[in-house]
Amino acid sequence: MVVICRTLPIFRLTRTASLDISFHSALKLVIDVISAVNPTVSNHMQRTACIAQELALRLNLSTKSQSTVFVAALLHDIGMIGDARQLDTLNDIDYYDDPHQQTGYQMLYGFKVFKPIRDIILHHHQHMDNDPEGKASLEQYIVAFADCVERMLPTDDKQLFACASDIIRQATEKYRGHFPDQILTAFRQLENQDYFWFRLELSGLRRVTDIISPVKVTHLDIDQFREICLLIARIVDKYSSFTVTHSIIVGAVARRLAKQYGMGLREQKLIEIAGYLHDLGKIYVPVTIIEKAAQLNEKEFSRMKGHSYKTGEILSEYPALSTVAQWAEHHHERLDGSGYPYHLTKAYLDIPSRILAIADIFTALTEDRPYRKGMSNEQALAIIRQEVDEGKLDADIYQCLAGNVALIDCGMETVRKNYLKKSLPRPAGGIQFSTSMFVPIPLPTK
Ligand SMILES: [Fe+2]
Ligand SMILES: [Fe+2]
Ligand SMILES: [Fe+2]
Repeated sequence: MVVICRTLPIFRLTRTASLDISFHSALKLVIDVISAVNPTVSNHMQRTACIAQELALRLNLSTKSQSTVFVAALLHDIGMIGDARQLDTLNDIDYYDDPHQQTGYQMLYGFKVFKPIRDIILHHHQHMDNDPEGKASLEQYIVAFADCVERMLPTDDKQLFACASDIIRQATEKYRGHFPDQILTAFRQLENQDYFWFRLELSGLRRVTDIISPVKVTHLDIDQFREICLLIARIVDKYSSFTVTHSIIVGAVARRLAKQYGMGLREQKLIEIAGYLHDLGKIYVPVTIIEKAAQLNEKEFSRMKGHSYKTGEILSEYPALSTVAQWAEHHHERLDGSGYPYHLTKAYLDIPSRILAIADIFTALTEDRPYRKGMSNEQALAIIRQEVDEGKLDADIYQCLAGNVALIDCGMETVRKNYLKKSLPRPAGGIQFSTSMFVPIPLPTK
């Protein structure tokens, strides 16, 4: 039976629940998350994007194609996140059928906003000799060539500028016949373009992508941004294999609670986004603590407690997300001031923050953890009820949960099934994904 909490006062957002964010800002958030879990891959993708964007510009591609090239290059190795192979350099995965391409494709699957780049991600190690029918697009070859060039660059900024001529010569010799001539010709023109080489310095990469991004002026609607936050949730959830769907399910439960509470569609979606992002800060907590199969000691627990603060800190760089960031950051606050990190009391905790707190607890209690099996809905509700009685959690939102638990449970199951079907990596070729999926790749030796 569906219980709609009609007797409750309909919540109105006091702050503007607007969201005005560019495609580039959203991608920057994705890159920030990837940088925290695997800086080598993040730097490689950002430099590849700089090279690819410059080539697209010089080849007079349309604005739309330039955007496709830039976004595809910026995310092309996203499938390496969680790849536990011990690699000496990124050259070790330079095979036209290496499975990290399929993994990347799967991670982006189902997102309309990434549809134009999915095929490029799937084939970004393909050269012309692997494409006898000539099916690959110029955009795909630009990304593939930029990827090859990036792997030839030194990782020491001081050596970059001095190497320019050598890199041009080596790359054009090595890849003649592998990529369309027009790409190699455009690349040769860059030899004396000082700015291009300065842009590739690792120290300024984050600023440079801001400067050159062709998608700065592309504004996302709330559904497009929701998709990008779902991708972020997939990355955060993959950080620990024990919580592989946690953020995604918290987002879905929070949205359902917001609906039952009587909120409008836009507010429901914003709360869902806050759910996807709420545990973002966990990427700064060591996996050994997150996955510890025993009770955390005091020091470990305080490290763990830092994650909700970190979520707010990461999101604070994006003014458009200030409201969503507060809800996400407050998910461990309690109405009696016993929560963290700010020990806020009920006067400072709005309804969306309270919804997120209950969605997070309910999801956490019912899912398997390293140290215990997931509880039944009844057991979880009893624990939450106790916290309501102690004045820690909101009684009305608890009623929304208890009255709709069957529906919410069904929704959680659907999300789990869809997630497992669509996005879990199915590695081919004997790749093993370790329990700790974020084994950093050693710095490439060039
Ligand atoms: Fe790759
Ligand atoms: Fe790459
Ligand atoms: Fe949390």
